Amino acid sequence: MKGILIDDDQQLYWQETETPQVGTGQVLIKVHATAINRADLMQRRGFYPPPPGASTIMGLECAGEIAEVGKEVDRWKLGDRVCALLPGGGYAEYAIAHEGSVLPVPGSFSFAEAASLPEVFATVWLNLFMQAELTPGEKVILHAGGSGIGTAGIQLCKAFGSPCYVTVGSDEKLQRCLALGADAGSNRHVEPFLDKAREFAGQEGIGVILDPVGGSYLKDNLDLLGLEGRLVLIGLMGGGVTEINLPMLLGKRLQVIGSTLRTRTDQAKARVMADMEEKVWPKLESSEIVPIIHTSMPITEAGAAHDLVASDATFGKVVMTVTDS
Ligand SMILES: NC(=O)c1ccc[n+]([C@@H]2O[C@H](COP(=O)([O-])OP(=O)(O)OC[C@H]3O[C@@H](n4cnc5c(N)ncnc54)[C@H](OP(=O)(O)O)[C@@H]3O)[C@@H](O)[C@H]2O)c1
Repeated sequence: MKGILIDDDQQLYWQETETPQVGTGQVLIKVHATAINRADLMQRRGFYPPPPGASTIMGLECAGEIAEVGKEVDRWKLGDRVCALLPGGGYAEYAIAHEGSVLPVPGSFSFAEAASLPEVFATVWLNLFMQAELTPGEKVILHAGGSGIGTAGIQLCKAFGSPCYVTVGSDEKLQRCLALGADAGSNRHVEPFLDKAREFAGQEGIGVILDPVGGSYLKDNLDLLGLEGRLVLIGLMGGGVTEINLPMLLGKRLQVIGSTLRTRTDQAKARVMADMEEKVWPKLESSEIVPIIHTSMPITEAGAAHDLVASDATFGKVVMTVTDS
């Protein structure tokens, strides 16, 4: 098969490589489309290695057809149209997924649309709803509201009854977040978010913050959380070392939760996917929630697609097509 390989100068090439072998409890997917995640950019630079046993090829999600079924797989059969969360290996013609990380393509979505879903919806579902136990009516802050994660988060907050505030990097992104369902927000290049977010938080404060920024936002995040608020840290785009106001943590009985999806066990990911299939997939099938795709490019242009994501100009996902979908 062909896959995207990284040379010594970190350039990307679509080259012949070995087709992965399917194991017990796994399926082989003929990939029609995959999508870019920020983590791929880090992996390319050598900072986010795949977990043990995972493909060294980049790519945390894909959509395509089941091409081979491993032993002890009950649910899937050849030709099924699926999308999957992957520990790696999505930037290729074939990828291996654990059977519990695979879901049917919802409704009549194309493979390109379906490939944009697994990583961001599973991450937001896991962190807002399973880890932080967000309840309807609780207020949320989503930093990087125009990211793949943010655009999934806005829609899930709206669909499950939680008003949300976003931070973004341009006025245009802010308008698009508001149109998608965010209730308020601010442009990080124009003003710090604290004052406006405090107005949004009101007396009761924020219930849950989903934060991929980290260090530079920690103080303001803790300030904005209400009693028993939860901060879920999913990235460190703003630095990994900072001071923490411990009296505030104690006084408000706050929780700061660090979370990664990729390194969890297959069984833990299967629980996230199953919960999402029950609660989120029907909302995709009815189009209450939709894939937000900035653009779709052929995988042979992976280098340019990465540059586009790194420019911070994207709104939603950048998809890469592997065959016509
Ligand atoms: N822990 C996990 O399991 C997990 C899983 C998936 C993703 N993540 C994390 O979630 C984040 C979003 O991922 P994604 O793939 O959805 O990203 P994405 O679509 O590439 O969007 C990232 C956006 O973050 C904003 N940004 C960049 N640098 C920033 C900074 N220093 N401070 C504040 N905002 C900044 C930019 O938007 P603006 O310019 O509009 O602000 C950028 O477009 C990443 O940090 C990723 O690592 C974590």
